Amino acid sequence: MSDTQTSVIVLAAGKGTRMKSALPKVMHELAGLPLLGHVLKAATSLGPDEIVTVIGPGMDDVEAYVTGMGEIYRTCVQSSQNGTGDAVKAAKGLVSERAGVALVVFGDTPFITADTLGMMRDACAASNGIVVMGFEASGPHQYGRLVQDGTGHLLAIVEHKDASDDQKSINLCNGGAMAVPRDRLFELLQQLNSNNASGEFYLTDLPAIGRTSGVSSTVALGSEAEVLGINNRRELAAAEARLQTRLRNAAMDGGATLRDPDTTYFSHDTVLGQDVIVGQNVVFGPGVRVADGVTIKPFTHLEGTEIGSGSAVGPYARLRPGTVLGTDVKIGNFVETKKASIEDGAKVSHLSYIGDARIGTEANIGAGTITCNYDGFNKHFTDIGAGAFVGSNSSLVAPIKIGDGGYIGSGSVVTKAVSDDALAVTRAKQVEKEGWAKRFRDAQSKRKK
Ligand code: UD1
Ligand code: MG
Repeated sequence: MSDTQTSVIVLAAGKGTRMKSALPKVMHELAGLPLLGHVLKAATSLGPDEIVTVIGPGMDDVEAYVTGMGEIYRTCVQSSQNGTGDAVKAAKGLVSERAGVALVVFGDTPFITADTLGMMRDACAASNGIVVMGFEASGPHQYGRLVQDGTGHLLAIVEHKDASDDQKSINLCNGGAMAVPRDRLFELLQQLNSNNASGEFYLTDLPAIGRTSGVSSTVALGSEAEVLGINNRRELAAAEARLQTRLRNAAMDGGATLRDPDTTYFSHDTVLGQDVIVGQNVVFGPGVRVADGVTIKPFTHLEGTEIGSGSAVGPYARLRPGTVLGTDVKIGNFVETKKASIEDGAKVSHLSYIGDARIGTEANIGAGTITCNYDGFNKHFTDIGAGAFVGSNSSLVAPIKIGDGGYIGSGSVVTKAVSDDALAVTRAKQVEKEGWAKRFRDAQSKRKK
């Protein structure tokens, strides 16, 4: 990592009205992470002094999300949306003005890469000039055009609305991200005016202003894919599809088999080991780590879960946050787990709910076992010892402890601790009445006649 002192300013005050949503645009998710989260992740990799996100009035959920990420993550409010230049100005006071680089990025361009931001930061530090992220546009568009001289210097950025026909024929466009010498940023912003087609303060006027203030500008080339912005739900869905393709390819390149890649859905942070086999229609929510040699059978949904090597899960399993599986664990069909530690070699093969629980090594949990963890007010813990055997259709009323090697008769409702190696059975004794069924049937059929 470069030792250049860096500040990042993320613009996210736009309401994103085209999303038609009560949720601010940047909080909509891609692969389980808000759009803004993707940008903050890329920004974080630069090791900046601070990352200041500029939000609009009343965007409390964005503020809570950002500040919850840690001390370097701050927010400031742009009180009225007067353009990207005005938005950056709102960050004054929160951004260091000591020598270094200020990087401005947009909160709604989740594909911007850490590599591009790093390249821009380094170029800015080396030249002590402004660096604008440029790209070659492939089709019709409304991007700002980058006007260069013959020697690679950037003279100005002209917004689409303000561009002449000649300027519109320029194919090199503004990607939005900009690196500016930190100790000059606010002085240059002070010189912006709103004499343009939108009546806004354009950040994109900085290169032209810089020229008259002894700050030169250059272009750092990125790709069009990186600047893809999201403005409506269709674009969100298209971006999700692209990201999923990328995540599926990365998983396969890392040594996982996806039986039908188009039906595997990943989160931005899914980690799969080698020789993991993922069946059809599997969804990975955020926070899933899977060790080597694990098989995840079709129609399984996982989130906040760790799976140890050699384990098998599903089909139709639902592993919820706080699930930790040891090695060679088996979780079968229609099993739901939550805050459950299931130790090496244990089996929960069918139709169970295991929540707020520990299941010791090699224990076997029979079909239909339920940990009754909730009394309507509080959650309680179930502790099942190593090698225990819980018979089918048992209810374990927590808080409860079943000792190592303990054995629960099928159909029991267990409310008291069970000692090591003991048998607990709570069901009623079976009675048998010889010939009763035949007498009953005979009586019924006579009545019908
Ligand atoms: C901007 C650039 C354009 C570039 C394009 C790339 C300017 C003036 N234009 O245009 O040259 O080709 O991005 O996508 O910068 N925002 C605020 N406050 C505001 C206005 C915007 O926070 O007052 C935020 C938005 O939430 C958004 C970002 O700034 O995240 C960019 O704003 P947007 O309106 O999308 O700019 P473009 O018109 O796309
Ligand atoms: Mg835009």
